Parts: sequence; C-alpha cells; structure tokens
Amino acid sequence: MKLTHMLVFVALFGGGACQYTYGYFNWLSRIMGYSRSYSNRYFETELEPPLPTDCPAECTCPRIFPKAMYCDTRRFKYIPKVPARMKYVYLQNNQIDGVPEGVFDNATHLVWVVLHGNKISNEKIGTDVFSKLTNLERVYLDHNNLSTIPFPLPKSLRELRVAGNMISKVPPNALEGLDNLTMLLLNDNQLEDIGGSLKVLKSLSFLDLSNNHLKKLPDALPNSLHQLYLDFNHISVIPNEYFKQFPKLQYARMSNNELTDNGIPLNTFNVSSLIELDLSHNKLQKIPPVNENLENLYLHANKIKEFTVDSFCKTMGWMSFSKIQVIRLDGNSIRQDNIPPEMHQCLRRARIINI
Ligand SMILES: *[C@@H]1O[C@H](CO)[C@@H](O)[C@H](O)[C@H]1NC(C)=O
Ligand SMILES: *[C@@H]1O[C@H](CO)[C@@H](O)[C@H](O)[C@H]1NC(C)=O
Ligand SMILES: *[C@@H]1O[C@H](CO)[C@@H](O)[C@H](O)[C@H]1NC(C)=O
Ligand SMILES: *[C@@H]1O[C@H](CO)[C@@H](O)[C@H](O)[C@H]1NC(C)=O
Repeated sequence: MKLTHMLVFVALFGGGACQYTYGYFNWLSRIMGYSRSYSNRYFETELEPPLPTDCPAECTCPRIFPKAMYCDTRRFKYIPKVPARMKYVYLQNNQIDGVPEGVFDNATHLVWVVLHGNKISNEKIGTDVFSKLTNLERVYLDHNNLSTIPFPLPKSLRELRVAGNMISKVPPNALEGLDNLTMLLLNDNQLEDIGGSLKVLKSLSFLDLSNNHLKKLPDALPNSLHQLYLDFNHISVIPNEYFKQFPKLQYARMSNNELTDNGIPLNTFNVSSLIELDLSHNKLQKIPPVNENLENLYLHANKIKEFTVDSFCKTMGWMSFSKIQVIRLDGNSIRQDNIPPEMHQCLRRARIINI
C-alpha cells in the first residue's frame, strides 16, 4: 500500500472530523518530518503553498493532502462543489438524499466517492453522474435508501459497497462491463433471488450476500470468486457440484440458513481450494465430507449426533491426514466420549476442537 493510500485509509476509518484533523495530522506531520514547520510559523509559510481557495467553506481540504476533500459528518443535505483537483471525496454520515446530474462535472479525476450513511435513493441519482467518472475505482453507498444497484457505473470500478440498503433486485444489465470489479458488498438488503446477474463480473473475488432473503443460491456466479458470504439467508438446498465452479474459492460462509443433510449432495464441500467453511446455525445431523486442505470448520448450533472421522479422512496414512486446525461443534448433540480414538490420527493439526 502506498503511503498516500494508507493515509486515506486511516482518515476514512478514523471516525469523525476532529479525529483526523488533530490525531491524524500530528501523526502525519511526524512521519513526514514536518513537525518543525508546524511549530514554527515562519518556516511553515516559507515552505507551504498558500491555502487553496477552492475548498467549500464547510469542508476540510488539508494542504498536505491536496487531492482529498473531507465533508463527512456535517449534516449536509446536498453535495458541495468538488474542485477539479480532487481524487478522494468523503461525504459519509450526512443527510444527502441524492447525487444530482452534473455534481461531479468538474471533478473528473475522482477515484473514491464515499457516501455511506446518507439518505440517497435511486430516483435522485443522475443517470450519468457516476459513469462519467472514468477514473472512479471505489463507490461507497452503504446504508442509504437504494432499492436497486445504481447504473450505469464506470468500467474502471474496483469496489462497490451497497450494503444496508433496501435492494430487492439487481437488474440483469446493471453490472455489464465492470470487468475490474473485485469487491461487491450487497449484504443487509432485501434480495430474494439474484439469478445469474452477477456472472458478468469477470474479476469478482469478494462477494457478500449475507443478511438477505435468498431462498436459493445464485444461479450463476463468476468463477473468479475467492470469498463468498451467504450467512443469514433462507437457503435449504445446494445444487450438485455447486462449489466446484469456483476453483479459487477459499472462504465460504453459509451460517444461519436452513441447510439439512438432504439438501446437500455428497462431496459438496469436498473442494480442494476451501480453507474455511462456516455452516453453523443450520439443521445438519451429520458432518459433511470436507477436503483435507480445509483448516477452519464451523458446525456449531446444528443437530449433529455423531463425530464421523471419515468426513475428514477417507483413508489415513503418513501423508494423508486432515489439515483442520479449528473445528467448532458446540451446540450439537455430540458428547466428548463419542469421539473415536482414530480422530487424533486424522486430525493431527487440530488445535481447537470445541464440543
Ligand atoms: C465547475 O467549475 C466552474 C468554474 O470554476 C464553476 O463555475 C462551477 O460552479 C463548477 N461546477 C461544479 C458542479 O462544481
Ligand atoms: C426512501 O426511498 C423511498 C422511495 O424509494 C421514499 O419513498 C422514501 O421517502 C425514502 N426514505 C427516506 C428516509 O429518504
Ligand atoms: C482495469 O485494470 C487494469 C489493470 O489494473 C487497468 O490497466 C485498466 O485500465 C482497468 N480498466 C479500466 C476500464 O479502467
Ligand atoms: C474428497 O474427494 C476426493 C476425490 O476428489 C477423495 O479422494 C476423498 O476421499 C474425498 N474426501 C472425503 C472426506 O470424502
């Protein structure tokens, strides 16, 4: 991570305005060797360019970081004018209800637009307001009043956050051409069925669909997926060979669904790429077979009655054993004395087994 990116990151997650104008600056000035210029006004005026006058009076545009404009947590109802030099604009936690056409017309170099925690609805987003920004990489619109994913979006986009809205559908063409999108947060919405609308996202690696109303898994997803989160939905059935479509999938979470043994074809989770699998808070009665490479398995709060070693090791030997490090089985019907002795031969790496 470049230093400038790191600083933006700190500012973004550092909380309110005071925190970054003081704490953040002290730290910043120290690491950049500017502390003397801050304690010596003459030195400062010699070194620093004059304060830019294009910054809206209500916002903060730090001299030391000339491409960022901070207008968050100020009860704004509208988006202020964004000077052309800006790349990063922070507008989170205000009362903004729309992103009108033309609002970013001068700011064609924008890379991040941070708008989470506002009241934005789809009807009040100008049609081309985002798609005109051909350098835009991140749009944060979580915790607003969206009923669908706003589109069109620029093809340069890498990260889209629209969690915590009222999104109930993703139009089939909304995400077309977003070949660089790697991260999509759609959790905490009202999705019932997402069909195959995410399949077009060729580079998608992180997808969060947890806390929706999904009754079935998405019909098609990109095979680039690395992390897939589906917790807190109503999924009871997994189609045959579903996870084999994603050769890079390492983290799969499906806790708090309605999965039963009957809904899970044999070998569904015997996928060699998986290293973490969360199936806690479902209705499983058996431990499903998993691959030897799996490291973390969460099965707590199910109805499992038996500790079956062959769910981890079909055969046991010098080279063939499970790489499991952590298993949680608490909140099931297994007793400690149900654990067969050959478990130690198979689960050689296990550090924590919670029963
Ligand atoms: C764009 O810049 C022009 C010239 O400085 C200014 O008059 C106009 O209000 C700006 N528009 C926006 C939307 O920032
Ligand atoms: C949210 O959007 C709906 C229309 O989609 C609108 O009727 C409602 O007033 C909006 N709520 C807020 C708090 O802005
Ligand atoms: C997509 O990412 C690649 C690699 O970082 C970059 O060269 C390309 O310009 C990006 N595409 C768009 C449309 O921004
Ligand atoms: C997982 O599948 C492989 C074949 O792909 C098989 O050899 C292995 O025994 C299976 N593991 C379990 C625990 O069923």
